[in-house]
Amino acid sequence: MQVKTVPTRPFDGQLPGTSGLRKKVAVFQQPGYLENFVQSVFDVLPDLPGSTLVLGGDGRFHNDAAVQTILRMAAANGVARVIVGRGGLLSTPAASELIRKSGALGGLILSASHNPGGPDGDFGIKYNISNGGPAPEKVTEAIHRRTQTIDRYLTVESADIDLQRDGATPLGTMAVEVVDPVASYARLMQQLFDFERLRALLTRPGFRLCFDAMHAVTGPYAHAILEGQLGAPAGSVINGTPLPDFGGGHPDPNPTYADQLIGRMFAADAPDFGAASDGDGDRNMIVGRRFIVTPSDSLAVLAANATLVPGYAAGLKGVARSMPTSGAVDRVAQALGIPCHETPTGWKFFGNLLDAGMATLCGEESAGTGSDHVREKDGLWAVLFWLNILAVRGQSVEQIVREHWQRHGRNVYSRHDYEGVDAGIARQIVADLRDALPTLPGRTVAGLKIARADDFGYTDTVDGSVSRGQGLRVFFDDGARIVLRLSGTGTEGATLRLYLERFEPDAARHGIETQAALQPLIDAAEALTGLKARSGRQQPDVIT
Ligand code: G1P
Ligand code: ZN
Repeated sequence: MQVKTVPTRPFDGQLPGTSGLRKKVAVFQQPGYLENFVQSVFDVLPDLPGSTLVLGGDGRFHNDAAVQTILRMAAANGVARVIVGRGGLLSTPAASELIRKSGALGGLILSASHNPGGPDGDFGIKYNISNGGPAPEKVTEAIHRRTQTIDRYLTVESADIDLQRDGATPLGTMAVEVVDPVASYARLMQQLFDFERLRALLTRPGFRLCFDAMHAVTGPYAHAILEGQLGAPAGSVINGTPLPDFGGGHPDPNPTYADQLIGRMFAADAPDFGAASDGDGDRNMIVGRRFIVTPSDSLAVLAANATLVPGYAAGLKGVARSMPTSGAVDRVAQALGIPCHETPTGWKFFGNLLDAGMATLCGEESAGTGSDHVREKDGLWAVLFWLNILAVRGQSVEQIVREHWQRHGRNVYSRHDYEGVDAGIARQIVADLRDALPTLPGRTVAGLKIARADDFGYTDTVDGSVSRGQGLRVFFDDGARIVLRLSGTGTEGATLRLYLERFEPDAARHGIETQAALQPLIDAAEALTGLKARSGRQQPDVIT
């Protein structure tokens, strides 16, 4: 099969420091755009010829076309074998698992995570390395440098590969191996969780669960595992068919976008347990009957109850959370006498800690929870973990969380997102607060006294790399804090994220409504930043 060399021009495709490329579909549809990125990845991998790669995505619009393009390019670049999920589908955690299990050099994951899909939506691609995790900065920087000098890409001419049929098909000298996207992942879940006990819970008369796949990639996984292997009644999984535009929805499992699930969980006849996952299956939201578990609390509850679950019965080596995530898990770590690591936002920082055996569980306030079983956060894994805890403890979600607060105190927490803000204004708001940081300690705003303020920086204890400018933090003298940072994943204007946290030790006050409890901090944040006034917003677009 003839290898074709196609001339191309450099493009500034990938921002240094981000783990992948995320743009509007129309951008990806430009001739040579995807090809430039993929060839840039291939060009910086010295071990590519003769290697195995894993390939799959969340099924969003353009997934099919991109898979075929990448297969041809992989063949032209001397890859020996590409393992592809049937239909071009693989959830992000399942791709991570397959990379690890198959001994692949790495994998290409097609997704824009929780961003909307469809012809007018977003598309994305990222490269994961052999440990199954997102490429570290030195690799993404090399890819970025290559996108700026690239002048050709390699491909072959061939008909599309049939991705619906399992098994191997040759493409030139390369083998395309189509696999069930669920099977290998499901086997790992069986090793970690007590499937007998889960089956007993899910088939118990009167126990009902609702899993909202949001028309994204976890549909097939949830149908196969929750309904198929664990016996949950048909219909327990809703929106379980992946659609290229996610049914027009925004596949982000939060109380705003997963409104169908929230509607069911707050209805008079609500199920016992509700959960949702995002576009590519790495995020999760856990909901009890008329009770939403915040992701930061979820991480803390999983850590506190880990030894009830077979895969973690021996205890945790440590835990890790991103800086904006609440300190609830810190309190559990302290009680357990294990280390708690605080990293910048983004999953890639956990990879080194997991590889080095310094942490077993990790999580982010943005609905990401995971462990050392893969090197990505894992939505369905978190759901099975919660169900395993419910099965052992025989209590409701709400009872478990309330008992947790009683024991450890409650970190009252919320995130306010201002989306699609004019990028110049958003940057200025952040810059002004950054400039003011040294003047803040000792000042009183909205009745709260500021103890200290900084711009979060992180030194990776494993590889020594330093990341600065990871979020502005203002701490008050009662331990409360606000954090302000610009999102790195939005594709329209800028998204400003304001994180609010206050510790409430008094059990009598744990029932207090979250936003009301945080009102003094909300006022202080506005006094410090003028965020609402300057962005012209009355309210945040999303509150989690
Ligand atoms: C967001 C989340 C962050 C997560 C990332 C990828 O990034 O806040 O925790 O790791 O998506 O899922 P951000 O848009 O805030 O940069
Ligand atoms: Zn995701």
